[in-house]
Amino acid sequence: MVNQAKFKILEKECTACIKCSLSSTRQNVVFGRGNPNAKLLVIGEAPGQQEDDQGLAFVGRAGKMLDNIFLSVGIDTNKDCYISNIVKCRPPNNRKPFLQEVSECSPWLTEQITMIKPKIIVLAGSTAVQSYLEISEPISKLRGGWITKDSIKCMPIFHPSYLLRNPSKEKGKPKWLTWQDLKKVKRELNSL
Ligand code: URA
Repeated sequence: MVNQAKFKILEKECTACIKCSLSSTRQNVVFGRGNPNAKLLVIGEAPGQQEDDQGLAFVGRAGKMLDNIFLSVGIDTNKDCYISNIVKCRPPNNRKPFLQEVSECSPWLTEQITMIKPKIIVLAGSTAVQSYLEISEPISKLRGGWITKDSIKCMPIFHPSYLLRNPSKEKGKPKWLTWQDLKKVKRELNSL
């Protein structure tokens, strides 16, 4: 079980972070949302506008897509997961975070992982996959295969924003593939 008090302190410290220049353009730091006692951690790229406005991870259109696709395999994102991002503040105009921003922000994620102790990590999109696993292969090659890091099983999946742009559910298309990947995650969760 997460020490709730310590987790709250970490969140408070994170929300005061001014390590990089994203702190000067953000409305809110987006620490995460969901259940910090869950066995599953989902990591995305960075907050978008809705997330920046509300201070919560994945609450915009991509977040709704994420919620729905997880629900389709029986995973409730507020109950069965904790959701956070590689970078906790919104990059202007939703550009990809710079490498320096990623490296300055990474101690927050490391601390979150240390406290949550997830059994499974779902990495959504190439920024999450490449920065967390420190590899450069494209997401199209990596998705759907387990990669173990620090004894935690990690599953790369397409980013939900990509699924919004590719909405076909046809067999072999990105949405169908993601559904297969999440079925693997659900099976693994059930076996824990
Ligand atoms: N995209 C992300 O990667 N993270 C969010 O929190 C929202 C959109």
